[in-house]
Amino acid sequence: MEGLAAQHTLTGQTPANLRIHHLPDAIDNDLALVREGLFSTQPWLHPRFFYDTRGSALFDAITGTPEYYPTRTEAAIFARHLDDMLRWVAARKVLIEPGSGSCEKAQALLQDKKLTHYAPMEISREYLMDCCARLAQQSPDLTIDAICGDFVSCNALPDTVPAEGRLVFFPGSTIGNFDPEHARSLLENFHSLAATSSDGYLLIGTDLPKERSVLEAAYNDSQGLTARFNRNMLSHLNDRLDCEFVPEDYQHKAFYNDRLGRIEMHLVCQRDTPVRIGQEQTTLPAGQSIHTENSYKYQPEAFRRLASSAGFEPVDCWTDDNHWFAVHLLKAG
Ligand code: AVI
Repeated sequence: MEGLAAQHTLTGQTPANLRIHHLPDAIDNDLALVREGLFSTQPWLHPRFFYDTRGSALFDAITGTPEYYPTRTEAAIFARHLDDMLRWVAARKVLIEPGSGSCEKAQALLQDKKLTHYAPMEISREYLMDCCARLAQQSPDLTIDAICGDFVSCNALPDTVPAEGRLVFFPGSTIGNFDPEHARSLLENFHSLAATSSDGYLLIGTDLPKERSVLEAAYNDSQGLTARFNRNMLSHLNDRLDCEFVPEDYQHKAFYNDRLGRIEMHLVCQRDTPVRIGQEQTTLPAGQSIHTENSYKYQPEAFRRLASSAGFEPVDCWTDDNHWFAVHLLKAG
């Protein structure tokens, strides 16, 4: 099996219906990535640095703000159309969830008795194991293959995950945080995960283009949580890589770039700001921005084209009454 380390099974109180697997650690050189970004003409920092414990908690809080519509809009689409969605996937057996977080979003699907296996993938190992241990105890008829690691480069699963009837589930519009070229290679990986039999599918959430004021409010909430989330990346880098960012010297900026169809988030230096990265030192001038995130908004047709280029066939698509968010079902077969 490609891209997956040997299975490791916990001893002690691991429920019998839970197996734990580990993807090999990505050979990431975070310091080199930070250096590459900050020394570019348009400085940037990789959005994966948003997510330490504080960043994940801030993101959770953002999803509950009145301005951040994607999470609740997507949840309403699932509540209304889940039966319809599942009717298409007649031979469903295994739910695979890259970036599963707390496994909360999968709960509604896992009520379906045809889904007898669940394979969540999550980089935060302890978090995944805790959530899965609880789920395994609550659902003794469900077999869980919990996969610890970064899903981004994973294109094969442990042999214990049945090949038949796979449904890959990628909600939340996280696909929008990848540039189209990377989104396509991620979709190709999802295709490899699903296409192990002729009845593999992908169920995926995407945010839709809409009025600028609605989009920009969602990334500039009035409680300032998105601003804290953005600046927290600098605190995270200080803790993790011993950088010397002063987060208060940067102002949060988020706007819709309609030419590229994406929200951009930046941190803008409020004064000439010295930055130290490892042994190297630079100064970012007042007004210089560091680009921290893109969030692409896809028209359904544009997303179908992207998914087709990764080998998927569109099956159906559901939206809310405002047409703010879409859930696509795609066949990998
Ligand atoms: C995780 N992702 C889908 C969020 C988004 O809307 O692009 C991340 C986010 N950034 C700021 N607010 C939320």
